Amino acid sequence: MSKNNDELFKNVIGHAKEYGFVFQSSEIYDGLSAVYDYGQLGAELKNNIKTYWWKSMVQMHENIVGIDSAIFMHPKIWKASGHVDGFADPMIDNKDSKKRYRADNLIEDKIARYEKDGKTDKALKLQADLDAALTADDLPALKSLIEAHEIACPVSGTRNWTDVRQFNLMFSTQMGAMAEDSDEVYLRPETAQGIFVNFLNVQKSGRMKIPFGIAQIGKAFRNEVIARQFIMRMREFEQMEMQFFVRPGTEMEWYAYWKQARLKWHLALGTPEEKYRYHDHAKLAHYANAAVDIEFDFPFGFKEVEGIHSRTDFDLSQHQKFSGKKMQYFDNDLNEDGKPFGNYIPYVIETSIGLDRMFLLTMCNAYEEQDLSTEDRKDSRTVLKLHPTLAPVKACVMPLTKKDGLPEKAREIMDQLKLDFNMQYDEKDSIGKRYRRQDAIGTPFCITIDHQTLEDNTVTIRHRDSMEQERVEASELDNIIGKLVSWKNLLK
Ligand code: GAP
Repeated sequence: MSKNNDELFKNVIGHAKEYGFVFQSSEIYDGLSAVYDYGQLGAELKNNIKTYWWKSMVQMHENIVGIDSAIFMHPKIWKASGHVDGFADPMIDNKDSKKRYRADNLIEDKIARYEKDGKTDKALKLQADLDAALTADDLPALKSLIEAHEIACPVSGTRNWTDVRQFNLMFSTQMGAMAEDSDEVYLRPETAQGIFVNFLNVQKSGRMKIPFGIAQIGKAFRNEVIARQFIMRMREFEQMEMQFFVRPGTEMEWYAYWKQARLKWHLALGTPEEKYRYHDHAKLAHYANAAVDIEFDFPFGFKEVEGIHSRTDFDLSQHQKFSGKKMQYFDNDLNEDGKPFGNYIPYVIETSIGLDRMFLLTMCNAYEEQDLSTEDRKDSRTVLKLHPTLAPVKACVMPLTKKDGLPEKAREIMDQLKLDFNMQYDEKDSIGKRYRRQDAIGTPFCITIDHQTLEDNTVTIRHRDSMEQERVEASELDNIIGKLVSWKNLLK
């Protein structure tokens, strides 16, 4: 990360805390690593991102329905899905500092250092060796790379390493009131399995016909070895996932459809196209026959926000095998020979986006420090240029002064709007300072009540981005704000 980007990212994190978007969890107890709380504005912004996703995926698709499955599930599910045996990261401990690291992250950091020092050939060679070791799941090879490139512990500075071991990322706990009848259960590491095991429940109760999708938003938990980049990699986070069940043989068409549709969802927010890119997976998970990441240009570089995976019939087949229950669908559409397609286990295209990563993306993309100085006056502002539909506060009502009946009139307008829009009321400090406070939290509109309002029932609306003002009828505010923050501006 360059110094500028490093500083920018620090400022975004500081801003998120200062204005009540994100707090470190358990802060007064010195925090809990890689766990975060969303504050009063963060909760609103997060809810708006969820609504945007839900409306786009569920409400706008007649063949996609949403569910809310439990976090605890039968432990066999994680055996069937492969998570018990295979959901692990390669980890290594430094014997002097007792610190634990992901072996691949240590090597990646070394590659970055080679690049920074202009040692491009060394960087490329090490990257190729790392990819080969990861592809082959070759733990001794990872250790050899750490030794050969003299990678030292960032804390102790020594190279006194343990062997590289696989570390399962699932959290487990005990279910049952008595220790003796307790059973080990896991906190789900992805929401997707709650969808797979309910596939037939939803298909039958909802009379769904293939192709159809099941969506859900919910918490997932991973005991990440290394916490990185604020809310980018957390131990407790939220996913928005959708499994789209299709006829075998049609999966590549649907994969192409969802790859394009998901990027469109991101771009509708007005984010510049060059800030996004696709990253096709060269190394596929054992269950996938195609996979792509949608990456965003964060201040610390392009990183994954969302994955689109063609998961074949792996998960449903595994659940059929482990539960002993049929996971088949009867397709009575006719094939080329005029006969029903009949029974089969559907193939699945998955779209999976991390809500917290989308939140971070939204904050990084919206954050701007602007120099507004003129020849006569120094001035600046920090503004969150959030899409108005996602903004946590839609408008702030401000009486120009605290007297002459202006606060009473402003309260009247507040009451007129607050049922439909999340609003704030502010009568403290100069109007300029109040505008700046709203700019900093991304409020798209400020409504000012002045003496003219008492005469003709008109108010001014000040627009966050252009800082321009217009005079409008107070009775028209519901319509005007309603249009400016409508979901129709994002979803057509
Ligand atoms: N069901 C597929 C699945 O879980 P994944 O690539 O492991 O795939 C999907 O995760 C998305 O979840 C990622 O693209 C990322 O946005 C988010 N995600 C994964 N691990 C995360 C973590 N530790 N903290 C925050 N978000 C995470």
